[in-house]
Amino acid sequence: MSRLATTLCGIPLKNPVIAASGTFGYGLEFASLLDLNKLGGLCTKGLSREPIAGNPAPRLWEAEAGMMNSVGLQNVGVRAFVADKLPKLRHYRVPVFANVFGYAADDYAEVVRVLEDAEGIAGYELNVSCPNVKQGGIFFSSDPACLADLVTSVRRIAKRPLMVKLSPNVAKIEPLAQAAADAGADALSLVNTFLSLAIDAKTRRPRLGNGFGGLSGPAVKPIALRLVYEASRAVAIPVIGLGGIANGTDAAEFLIAGAQAVQVGTATFWDPRAPVRIARQLDRFVRDQRLQSVRQLIGTLQLKQGIH
Ligand SMILES: Cc1cc2nc3c(=O)[nH]c(=O)nc-3n(C[C@H](O)[C@H](O)[C@H](O)COP(=O)(O)O)c2cc1C
Repeated sequence: MSRLATTLCGIPLKNPVIAASGTFGYGLEFASLLDLNKLGGLCTKGLSREPIAGNPAPRLWEAEAGMMNSVGLQNVGVRAFVADKLPKLRHYRVPVFANVFGYAADDYAEVVRVLEDAEGIAGYELNVSCPNVKQGGIFFSSDPACLADLVTSVRRIAKRPLMVKLSPNVAKIEPLAQAAADAGADALSLVNTFLSLAIDAKTRRPRLGNGFGGLSGPAVKPIALRLVYEASRAVAIPVIGLGGIANGTDAAEFLIAGAQAVQVGTATFWDPRAPVRIARQLDRFVRDQRLQSVRQLIGTLQLKQGIH
């Protein structure tokens, strides 16, 4: 599959298809279902300072053409990840991106400090879709100054490549993309889930235990493509695109919009092998387009005029 070989922030990838955070556990859960060595990379479930039990059930709801979740960032905590999961992940030749979150810049910094001492991590992905408790609950992902402070404090600690995962729940993505890049991010990934609400009309209650949830899957793809296009034009650092990718053509569309790599999330719920299948389909697409390298697709959207 050499047509698919690429690099991201200096990290060689066999292909540009990465398993997305929160939909692929810690990777190990999928080792009996697919060959982890065939992935372009994998993002772990979000890791926090201390273990988190997550939100009340139900946590998943199948929406029209998509899925809603309110898992609530359940995870084993960074120390248990380093002690129990990472040693097993090191048996595979797959770049591991540790997804990190917290409720204050100190939390993020502490998680990254613990990960810095561990072997077997290719880079970090900061999930910034959390409320900043120290600043009255403003979301890191919606305030450029707040985001810049966070990225600056993690950048001081992180020696490995630092990816910042942006939320789509903003009026304009460019100021956030630029704030993260100026503060030292090596790459951006987008999008995270869309804030949403499903209602049971008979009981007049929310379908999810936590009330609101995050929408993902095919329903969000056109919005995600627009955001990836806008972000990739606003910054010079690489953008990784995701949101509703379910087949190789979807992946190609994100590359054409300007992404240098893609991630696959919700599709893994109905096809656990989706990331590997999508890489194979993308390889066929590249071959059928008579291209030597998948990189030749990146940022090639044809526009008669600019998009307004
Ligand atoms: C069940 C579930 C859990 C998720 N957990 C995380 C997480 O821990 N950290 C994170 O950055 N994104 C998380 N996400 C967001 C996904 O990584 C991805 O950004 C989003 O679902 C859009 O991509 P998709 O449409 O391919 O799923 C989660 C998504 C789902 C569906």
